[in-house]
Amino acid sequence: MGTRGKPLGTDRNLTSYGDVEFSRYLRRAFLASAGFDREDLDRPVVGIADTASDYTTCHRHMRELVEAVKRGVLEAGGLPLVFPTTSLGEIIISPTSMLYRNLMAMETEEMLRAYPMDAAVLLGGCDKTVPAQLMAAVSADVPAISLVTGPMTTGHWRGERLGACTDCRLYWARYRAGEIGDEEINEIRQNLFPSSGTCMVMGTASTMACLTEALGFMLSGGAAAPSGSADRLRIAVKTGREAVSLARSGVLPKQILTRSAFENAMKVLMAVGGSTNAVIHLTAIARRCRIELTLEDFNAASEAVPLLVDCKPAGKNFMEDFHRAGGVPVLLKSLAPLLDLSAPQVTGRTLGQLIEETQGPASWQSVIRTLEDPLGGTGSLTALKGTLAPDGAVVKRSAATASLLEHRGPAIVFESPEDVAARIDDPSLAITPDHVLVMRNGGPIAAGMPEAGSMPIPRYLAEKGVKDMLRISDARMSGTARGAAVLHCSPEAAAGGPLALVENGDLIEIEVKKKRLDLLVPEGELARRRASFCRPALPDRGWRRLSAEHVLQAHLGADLDFLAPL
Ligand code: FES
Repeated sequence: MGTRGKPLGTDRNLTSYGDVEFSRYLRRAFLASAGFDREDLDRPVVGIADTASDYTTCHRHMRELVEAVKRGVLEAGGLPLVFPTTSLGEIIISPTSMLYRNLMAMETEEMLRAYPMDAAVLLGGCDKTVPAQLMAAVSADVPAISLVTGPMTTGHWRGERLGACTDCRLYWARYRAGEIGDEEINEIRQNLFPSSGTCMVMGTASTMACLTEALGFMLSGGAAAPSGSADRLRIAVKTGREAVSLARSGVLPKQILTRSAFENAMKVLMAVGGSTNAVIHLTAIARRCRIELTLEDFNAASEAVPLLVDCKPAGKNFMEDFHRAGGVPVLLKSLAPLLDLSAPQVTGRTLGQLIEETQGPASWQSVIRTLEDPLGGTGSLTALKGTLAPDGAVVKRSAATASLLEHRGPAIVFESPEDVAARIDDPSLAITPDHVLVMRNGGPIAAGMPEAGSMPIPRYLAEKGVKDMLRISDARMSGTARGAAVLHCSPEAAAGGPLALVENGDLIEIEVKKKRLDLLVPEGELARRRASFCRPALPDRGWRRLSAEHVLQAHLGADLDFLAPL
């Protein structure tokens, strides 16, 4: 029992038999069968959410991490109990892991609430796992701390360093353009993913790890230590120890994930040149905390913070280089004048106290820059609005060809990601570099929002050396990708957004400086088209049906309406 009479440890959340004493007696009897004695069962319980799966190759060394966390919990006097949850392997799951982020969040929330635990360690890594776990922890209202598997080490091919998946896409584009052949592309395939861990560029997984550390929900230095490294194991042991402190202090996720924490995280997102997906995930996590983040908030952060981290895809280095240069703690030191230093951390200290003990970027490295000597200007991500996206859309300026960000061109329309795959290389479409590739039905309702927004350049243009075109969709783009891709158009086409009304040849204008995205078609003509618009049929059953009926639009975080209290 706790000091205020509330059950603690294994006595929490008793199974319902209509007899509390019997429930406690039976639970302890079953736990005794696993070799636990009274001394064990009177300790604070730390639940460890294990997302190992043969399908999630990014988590393949999770067993070792779990053991390290358990060691830390035991050293600090706690009782570690490991439990499995949904695991989302980004590249292996169909049609897209984003369709299942909310399912994982819902399942993890229920497990956190249903099993007895005084605190939880959430082990994730691959793209959607970390945001799903943060959403779950907030809603379950259980003290929790995040630990990621860490990034892979860098691959090599014929003297070049390779980063998944920026270089997967780069070399695939070169293969499509005929610049390299079958032998080369197959050799590259064998070297893109040389170790366990998450993609080793500043893609979505790395971005979300950095943001989780910036939010104060992870131990300092926990985001970037490579998978399988001694640093990664030491962070895991320390996380286990910290979880026991958390179990004793009872600090809840909402006490850490404050408005200040989210403001800081948005600034870190811009400083690392991070993934557009983070806009959706941060918005969803914040809404679970009853904090509203708008696209204007992201624009304000973008305009205030220059690019400070030299990692692919915005730069040239990799996560292991970022880690060697000091990782998130050194970056936070650089950013300190722009941050709210009163933001609380999972350790009970403030961000300011943490930063006080950290040195700024060392002179021997160039991966983490200072505000006085940034790698790039401000504005790495920009949210746009206009007649084509009344509720907003997002473009990653730092990954796009600058001339395409102020552009007017005729639309060529694809009905879905499948339609793109079927027709993009059809020469009869006569696509020119000035065309604007438009894809609809890639949004949260229509398709679970796959990373299909960075449509391939038509092969016949790629072969002529065209590397980038303006692409617009209601889908997402991988955080590892480059290109002038306007994403997350909201409302999506399936919800009746203007994207549904675009026809081949319509003029589209993007003016990133003015934050505008417009469909240059008279309103009378749009009204005529709108009158014949039919919403696509919803999936007939199961999770896909539930998701399609309840998922919110991208600018609201694409959570389910009944899970997001705002
Ligand atoms: Fe798992 Fe990139 S595929 S992090």
